[in-house]
Amino acid sequence: TAHNTDVEHTDVRHLDPERADLLGDEAVADPYPLLAALREHDPVHWSAKYRSWFITRYDDVAAALRDDRFSSDRITPYRRAKLEGPDADPRVRAAFEVLEGWMVFKDQPDHLRLRRLLSRAFTPRAVTRMTSSVEEIAAELLDGIVARGTGDVDLVGDFAYPLTASVIADMLGVPRADREQFKDWSDQITGLVFGGMGDATRHTVGAQGMAELTSYLADLVRAHERAPADDLISAMISARDDRDALSHDEVISTGVLLLFAGHETTTNLIGNGILALLRNPAQLALLRDRPGLVDGMVEEALRFDGPAKTVARVMGDDVELRGRHLRRGERVFLSPSSANRDPAVFADPDTLDITREKSGQLGFGIGMHYCLGAPLARLEASIAIPRAFARLPGLRLTDESLRWHPVLLSRGMQRFPARFTTP
Ligand code: HEM
Repeated sequence: TAHNTDVEHTDVRHLDPERADLLGDEAVADPYPLLAALREHDPVHWSAKYRSWFITRYDDVAAALRDDRFSSDRITPYRRAKLEGPDADPRVRAAFEVLEGWMVFKDQPDHLRLRRLLSRAFTPRAVTRMTSSVEEIAAELLDGIVARGTGDVDLVGDFAYPLTASVIADMLGVPRADREQFKDWSDQITGLVFGGMGDATRHTVGAQGMAELTSYLADLVRAHERAPADDLISAMISARDDRDALSHDEVISTGVLLLFAGHETTTNLIGNGILALLRNPAQLALLRDRPGLVDGMVEEALRFDGPAKTVARVMGDDVELRGRHLRRGERVFLSPSSANRDPAVFADPDTLDITREKSGQLGFGIGMHYCLGAPLARLEASIAIPRAFARLPGLRLTDESLRWHPVLLSRGMQRFPARFTTP
């Protein structure tokens, strides 16, 4: 496969405006050659097609993520511009209003207020307590896959997705019986968050999912307000400090954020991580021999082919960077996937090496918005990936032409077909 060859990396053909398109077929299948070309030849790249900047060098991505002139509120300007007119669908507007309540889309001081309160509920201890639950869910799913007796598996649809969705649902306190429903809603919301801004069908479907999930969570939050339980929804309701607490609506909106953020990305980490090991059998053998390398493997999976292809910002001010003028109001995509392959920071960046010393990968972002769920994502991946290899002997790819989500923001497979040996 082309994904590991160095030859193409400096190929300027990729900078041909027609081809410098992260949503072109080639780049969706393997974005790294294009990202390498941008990093080298045009690190602050203006895309006329997306009317956006693409920033690809490690130092620039890290600095921009820490710079509040790069605003996180990319929802409000869009809602004001597109969803306020008389023809705008009120349900789409309502859905965008829920997104506007998410801390990930807020600037200071609103962001820090929400983050501080959520941190009181979503604690490292609350994550550690999920360990046995993650182990049980992984074992159940893998038993089910083996019990089918076919030796076929879709590692995304049959394993990573149901695992990560069940874990965050358990943690929040969503009843098991309701899981299937919220999976559908969450899929629909994905179209809203990751989908092309302005894609009307995805917006209508996403808005419907958002309305249903929000009203479902509203009932659940009310039930928890009457009868607190030992779960994250109850912890969010009671999270307060001497000045402040989350409101009823904020608990609902943060619940939607956690459900969503909790599994879309983690599914991709587990899928991409298993794929990277299947394509690098020596690294897989090393992990088998030295299970203690599991944490290093997860960090390397985040670096080598992590789920955050880009993170979006909107310029809150005019900024000059490498001689280019980024103007207030312009959209910017900062690319962790590219930063994580920057040869200025990582030796031999296109090689998977689970024994790398301290990584510094940017797969969870950096700065104020650094991923709050990183400990949970690491826990899930560190259990799921080794368990899959242990329970599915002879696991192998069936189809090298994998289908990847054709989106700018995230890197993950739609399906991940594989085979294993049955007794
Ligand atoms: C923020 C990636 C899993 C909750 C972020 C950001 C990134 C990221 C890049 C920063 C976004 C920005 O700067 O605009 C990932 C990846 C994951 C993952 C790659 C899995 C491998 C999770 C999980 C949860 C979670 C499991 C929770 C259950 C959040 C929250 C924020 C966030 C709440 C917003 C933090 C803030 O704005 O202060 N994540 N995430 N994430 N993530 Fe994750």
